[in-house]
Amino acid sequence: MTNSTEHDAGASTTSAGDAIDFLTEQHHTIRDLFTEVADSTGEQRRSAFERLVRLLAVHETAEEQLVHPLAKKSGHVSADMVDLRLAEEREAKDTLQDLERMGPEAQGFDTMFEQFRGKVTAHARHEEVDEFPSLRESVPAERLRSLVPMLKAAEAVAPTHPHPGTESAAANYAAGPALSLFDRTKDLVRKALGDRPGE
Ligand SMILES: [Fe+2]
Ligand SMILES: [Fe+2]
Repeated sequence: MTNSTEHDAGASTTSAGDAIDFLTEQHHTIRDLFTEVADSTGEQRRSAFERLVRLLAVHETAEEQLVHPLAKKSGHVSADMVDLRLAEEREAKDTLQDLERMGPEAQGFDTMFEQFRGKVTAHARHEEVDEFPSLRESVPAERLRSLVPMLKAAEAVAPTHPHPGTESAAANYAAGPALSLFDRTKDLVRKALGDRPGE
């Protein structure tokens, strides 16, 4: 992997300066939420799990629709590698729905959750090590920055901030289990790309 700074144009030093920064920050939040779910009980655990479901749903869908196709198109990342990441995301989405159906209090949840955590963490590391640096090198910095509003809009589909009062959060959650978040994020990204033909 070559070391390259000439494409950054000073943009990626700020928080969430471009799509890679944004997705990497989401990876940090995802890892933190995995830890919080594993280490907590009761309402805190339920709340952390809900936030994890929501963030993973929008994050992986945005990567599937936006980032991996871009990586493939760049020609700097092997198509086989991108296909592996896409397959991992499909599997993660299935497991996420299984875990969501079980709920964090169910018997067997912990074992399945730990396996899921290992897979998602490894998946994110592959993206960070194998894919993101190549995207930085091959995609113009301005293009990577221009994707941030779309990623923010996707995240807004499923707010993941901790909630002091559970009433509105519960209503939000009831309105947006993982499956509908996948669909809503996909629609949003596709619509945004449709508005920018040729991308
Ligand atoms: Fe991913
Ligand atoms: Fe990711």
